[in-house]
Amino acid sequence: MDIKVPRGTQDILPSETGKWQVVEELIRETCSLYQYKEIRTPIFEHTELFTRSVGDTTDIVQKEMYTFQDRGDRSLTLRPEGTASAVRAFVEHKMFGYPDQPVKLYYMGPMFRYERQQAGRYRQFVQFGIEAIGSADPAIDAEVISLAMAVYQKAGLKKLKLVINSLGDTESRITHKKALVDHFEPHIENFCSDCQNRLQKNPLRILDCKVDRNNSLMATAPSLADYLNEESAAYFEKVKEYLSILNIPFEVDPNLVRGLDYYNHTAFEIMSAAEGFGAITTLAGGGRYNGLVEELGGPDSPGIGFAMSIERLLLAVEAENNKWADLSNLDVYLIGMGETAKKKTVELTNVFRQNNITAEMDYLDRKIKTQMKSADRLKAKFVLVIGEDEIEKESAMLKNLSNGEQQLVPWNELVEKLKNSI
Ligand code: HAM
Repeated sequence: MDIKVPRGTQDILPSETGKWQVVEELIRETCSLYQYKEIRTPIFEHTELFTRSVGDTTDIVQKEMYTFQDRGDRSLTLRPEGTASAVRAFVEHKMFGYPDQPVKLYYMGPMFRYERQQAGRYRQFVQFGIEAIGSADPAIDAEVISLAMAVYQKAGLKKLKLVINSLGDTESRITHKKALVDHFEPHIENFCSDCQNRLQKNPLRILDCKVDRNNSLMATAPSLADYLNEESAAYFEKVKEYLSILNIPFEVDPNLVRGLDYYNHTAFEIMSAAEGFGAITTLAGGGRYNGLVEELGGPDSPGIGFAMSIERLLLAVEAENNKWADLSNLDVYLIGMGETAKKKTVELTNVFRQNNITAEMDYLDRKIKTQMKSADRLKAKFVLVIGEDEIEKESAMLKNLSNGEQQLVPWNELVEKLKNSI
């Protein structure tokens, strides 16, 4: 049999899962500090949810979704991102009626996009994201960004770059859209067929096109920054002010447009500036989506959030040459010599575990020397040896592997002794 993992997916092996758990834990701790609560939504949704929110002219919807008909002939899609589901749940469960607004949610789980595989880009990846729905206060934009930065900093990253932009409100977008159409329309035949389709539907997407990015019209295209109305410009200024209050350095990039359609006002990405991180430098992306709740059938509730993949976070940690703390946690390895001693090690291993002492023993009837090597490899703090002598004395030889000291300890004192020494 020659079946391998599907392209773009990966097995995360026991030697790697320790790091994942550390990151997951620091994410949960950070969300708790900022008071974001976890939401768990299904891995598949009605396809229409994504076409309506992410946008039917985006690459995600047009080229990257895993869409299938179920046996009841419904069109379903493996979620390519988490915002649409969070907002659907917000509407479906009438969270807009909760007494405490904004509703602050986080999620962590697998997302699926049929993308070309390369370093940092997978077809199944784990996204952690947050959404704050129900407030149009620029201070929460800064909070959302600061939570993302806090997670990276706790993971030890230093070479971070925050890039922000404002996409403006609907009015600003409409005037800018018109200017874009006027700019590209006379020469649209020189652009790819995707861009030709985008021209009327969503000309902003043209600026994000990978095929035509070197066309000279790209650099001269009207910039959104020049089309922000007074209100949008004032909002953006306040977001920048709050970021400064939080001591978060940022760069403004007027060309940052993001690959999903639901955004307006604040858009941002966090990049890794570490050498060797690879071509894809974006670690996280997010922004404001006032209007999305209404689009999905709820009342007018403004929202903002971001998402990051754990895969890219781990790659960035590696690119900065940061080492993970030693994650081994074995307190004691038990070695029994002979049939009677074996029974005692089985019993004691169980007793230790019941007392929250991590314990391991041999199940392959190997020689003592080999068992000692196992204990070393597993980085056990102690080794406990029981032979015929020890059986007679109802004791065990406890050896501290860090300093080599050993002593005979009666069975009934072992738990206490270990607890005091660990
Ligand atoms: P996005 O920019 O499409 O935004 O994805 C956010 C992050 O997900 C990326 O910066 C990257 O870390 C990770 N990511 C995306 N695609 C892949 C992939 N193929 N392989 C590995 N990692 C990937 C969103 O998904 C929005 N829902 C973010 C958001 C939340 N906006 C508001 N709230």
